[in-house]
Amino acid sequence: MKGIILAGGRATRLYPMTLSISKQILPIYDKPMIYYPISILMLANIRDILIVSTPLHINIFKNLLGNGEAFGLNFTYKVQNEPKGLADAFLIGEDFIGKENVALILGDNIIYGSNLRNILNNAVNKIEKEKGAIIFSYHVKNPKDYGIVELEDNENIISLQEKPINPKSSLAVIGLYLYDNDVIKIAKTVKPSKRGELEITSVNQKYLDLKKLSVIGLNDDFAWFDAGSCNNICEASSFVKSIITRSNFQIACLEEIAFLNGWIDKNILKSSIKKLESAEYGNYLKRYL
Ligand code: TTP
Repeated sequence: MKGIILAGGRATRLYPMTLSISKQILPIYDKPMIYYPISILMLANIRDILIVSTPLHINIFKNLLGNGEAFGLNFTYKVQNEPKGLADAFLIGEDFIGKENVALILGDNIIYGSNLRNILNNAVNKIEKEKGAIIFSYHVKNPKDYGIVELEDNENIISLQEKPINPKSSLAVIGLYLYDNDVIKIAKTVKPSKRGELEITSVNQKYLDLKKLSVIGLNDDFAWFDAGSCNNICEASSFVKSIITRSNFQIACLEEIAFLNGWIDKNILKSSIKKLESAEYGNYLKRYL
C-alpha cells in the first residue's frame, strides 16, 4: 500500500502564524507537525509516501525530509496549485499510486494509542485482501465541525454527513482513510460541493453506496488531534510533552520507528544522531547505539 500526506491548504484559522509558513511545519511540542502523520504511515508499514503541498511550501518539506533515506522511506513530492479539496489527492497522486491501494492522511492529524500499530496493520491487510475502503471514527464534542458517521449496532454505517447543521452522531471521521485502487476512478467522478471543494465525504459516500465502506472506532484509549486551530495545537503539544516526559518514550520519532522496523542500519542512525544530538530528540536516539 502507498501513502499520501496532504500538507497543503490555506490554514486560515492559524493566521497570522501561517501567513508565510506552512501549518504542517509548525511545532507540536518538539518536532514538526508533519512528523506525526508520517509516523502513522510508518506504523502501518507504508514506506512509499507522496507529500502534497502548496507551490509556496513544497520546498520546506523537501529540505526537511529529503528523499526519506534517513527514515528508511521513499518520499515523492507534488504540488497542489489550489486547495481544491481532499479528494484532489487521488487526482494529483494518480501516477504515484499506480495500481496499488492507498492510505491518505491529513498533514495536521495526530493519532496516539498503544495498540495503534496492530489496528493499522490489520486494516491495511483487510484492504489488500478484500478491497473496499476503511475510515476511522472518534467521539467529539463539536460534531458540526467535522465529517460525521452514523452507525447502527456500533458497527454498520448508516450515513455520512459533512459538517452537518444537525449531526446524527458525535462520531467524527478522522483524517486517515484507506482505499483500494478504485479510489482514483471514484475521485474522478466527484463534483465540487457547495463550498467548492472535492469532498472526501463524497468519495466515502460512493464506497458506502457500493457497500464497500467500513469503519474502525478509536475509543478513549486513543488520542486524536486535528491540529488546525491554535487551541488544538496547544492541546496536542501539551499531550505529547506529558507522554514524553512521564514515560521517557518518544512519540513520532521517525528514526526510532525506522530503526526498530529494521529499515535503517546503525550507520544511518548514527549520522542522524550526529546532526540532532544537541536536541533532546537526537539525544534520545543514543539509546539504540
Ligand atoms: P483543513 O484544515 O480543512 O483546511 P486548511 O488547512 O486550509 O485550514 P483552514 O480551515 O484553517 O483554512 O485541511 C485539512 C488538511 O488537509 C490540512 O493538513 C491541509 C490539507 N489540505 C490540502 O492539502 N489540500 C486541500 O485542498 C485541502 C482542502 C486541505
